[in-house]
Amino acid sequence: MCGIVGFTGKTQAAGFLLDGLERLEYRGYDSAGIAVLDGGKLETVKTTERIKNLKDKTENGKKVKGTIGIGHTRWATHGAPSHENAHPHTSQNRKFAVVHNGIIENYIALREELKAEGVDFVSETDTEVIPQLIEKYYDGDFFSAVAKAVSRLEGSYALGILCADCPDTLIAVKNFSPLIIGLSKDAGFIASDVTAIVSHTKDILYMEDGDMAVLTPEGVKLYDSKGNEISRKPSVINWDVAAAQKSGYDHFMMKEIMEQPGAVARTIESRIRGREIVFDGISLDGEKLKNTERIEIVACGSAYHAGMVGKYLFEELLRIPTEVDYASEFRYRNPIINEGTLTVIISQSGETADTLAALREAKRRGSHVLSIVNVVGSSIANASDDVLYTWAGPEIAVATTKGYSTQLSVLYLLAVWAARILRPEQSARTEKLFDELVKLPELIEKVILSEPKIKEMAKRCGDPESLFFIGRNVDYAVSLEASLKLKEISYIHSEAYAAGELKHGTISLIEEGRTVIALACYEELFEKLLSNIKEVKARGAQVIACAVEGHTEIAKEAENVIYIPKTDPLLLASLEVIPFQIYAYYVALYKGCDIDKPRNLAKSVTVE
Ligand code: AGP
Repeated sequence: MCGIVGFTGKTQAAGFLLDGLERLEYRGYDSAGIAVLDGGKLETVKTTERIKNLKDKTENGKKVKGTIGIGHTRWATHGAPSHENAHPHTSQNRKFAVVHNGIIENYIALREELKAEGVDFVSETDTEVIPQLIEKYYDGDFFSAVAKAVSRLEGSYALGILCADCPDTLIAVKNFSPLIIGLSKDAGFIASDVTAIVSHTKDILYMEDGDMAVLTPEGVKLYDSKGNEISRKPSVINWDVAAAQKSGYDHFMMKEIMEQPGAVARTIESRIRGREIVFDGISLDGEKLKNTERIEIVACGSAYHAGMVGKYLFEELLRIPTEVDYASEFRYRNPIINEGTLTVIISQSGETADTLAALREAKRRGSHVLSIVNVVGSSIANASDDVLYTWAGPEIAVATTKGYSTQLSVLYLLAVWAARILRPEQSARTEKLFDELVKLPELIEKVILSEPKIKEMAKRCGDPESLFFIGRNVDYAVSLEASLKLKEISYIHSEAYAAGELKHGTISLIEEGRTVIALACYEELFEKLLSNIKEVKARGAQVIACAVEGHTEIAKEAENVIYIPKTDPLLLASLEVIPFQIYAYYVALYKGCDIDKPRNLAKSVTVE
């Protein structure tokens, strides 16, 4: 969580810092601040409100002079979102200013040590020890003071650091938190992700753990953890700034929902040559696949929900036992993982702390790790044996939509590719799935056309105290995602239940007027789901149902029905989730919620 930016150049820094922070606001929005160096003096401006407030305070940055600066948008971990706890943090003599994303695990011991030496602290944050340590080690050499301070830190950190004695030098450090460098002719940029700087440069240097970089307007020098200067080839970003803008939509979430047909098409079509599925540059081959005894899918949140669909897919098509685990649980148990396990990691951001830790644990136990990731060059992508990018483009809304949909697409491709190798005897089944898979973008487009109807339904939904989603098989996996979407952006309590589990306890919560959303698209179990609908109706529930076109009998039981086009049952999730992304959006809109930046959340959860 938290977003950081930094700039050194020949033009005023504050404008870039504020625009960059606005683009990173999805990473955290509890408070924000910038520090700019002007004539050897550090000036800081902070707010406990949104970046907009920082812009107003500084007349869009015009009031803050200086051509070098750093900025931060915070997701609070240590200490409340207050002015004192907002970054940048400065050292006691205001010689150093630091912005930090991550957690310093040994900060209490460092703080006590520094306090005993007479250093005063003004915040409750873990970060404040960093500028204080740098000041302690400073003897006129900025670089070596930072290197000494960093060698004392335990935990995760992406840092941007200014020194009042060095009027054009910005130092950046990365360890387990994301940080990139933007290269340009007479300026240097740092940021937590590409969206903050893509309008200034497309030449990006992805920092790796242990790297330290010295940026001046003349160029960038990169050092490894031992202080040796190193060189690394920059990457060129192939998407435009428009991809990270709202382009006429009121919210990124709606824009990203609407982008799904295109995003899914890009994910699928870039891997298809004729009828072949080609994954460029991965080391997983037929031999390794044949030695796979188990598949372990590990992820968090919506990525975990995509993984649940993966379980149905892999077990059905490959007949390989597949488990799906929350990364936060997986990392702290004693999982049975070995050379015979293929670990599939799923993460949109590629930076989720628990998922990254789980990945490392799986590798330590000898498993081959294949990751499904959206953000190029992210920590998870870098740490994996193989990466399959989802190519969704930047996803800004905290609630994922196209990220989830493209994760599903990669899982389908992977399942078909592996089934062709492992189960040639089932080729008729596999090829039927492939034929449907290539039609998916078109079918998603069709589902999106029902937006006005879903909007109407959401209008009628109001603000219920609580509601339930039920489903079986893939419908159940989708109901988890649909329920999460609604919860995170509308703050309405909702629960997703495997429909068959209802009568084992939860049905006691069904009463007159309770809304139940029944996902009934998995045709093999349609009749069973219909019985579950009847059970909740008999207890007074109002039912919204989702079914495959042609199953009109459901309209006799449900007050509202959304129909989706027929497809292969293994691909249903991709169509069925769309109406409920739209539903959650409008329910939240009518409630007046902050859709793109729901309370207490951040886009990438880089702390555990
Ligand atoms: C989804 O809408 C959530 N914002 C969240 O559950 C998310 O999917 C989860 O934090 C995992 O993130 P990742 O895909 O970036 O690892």
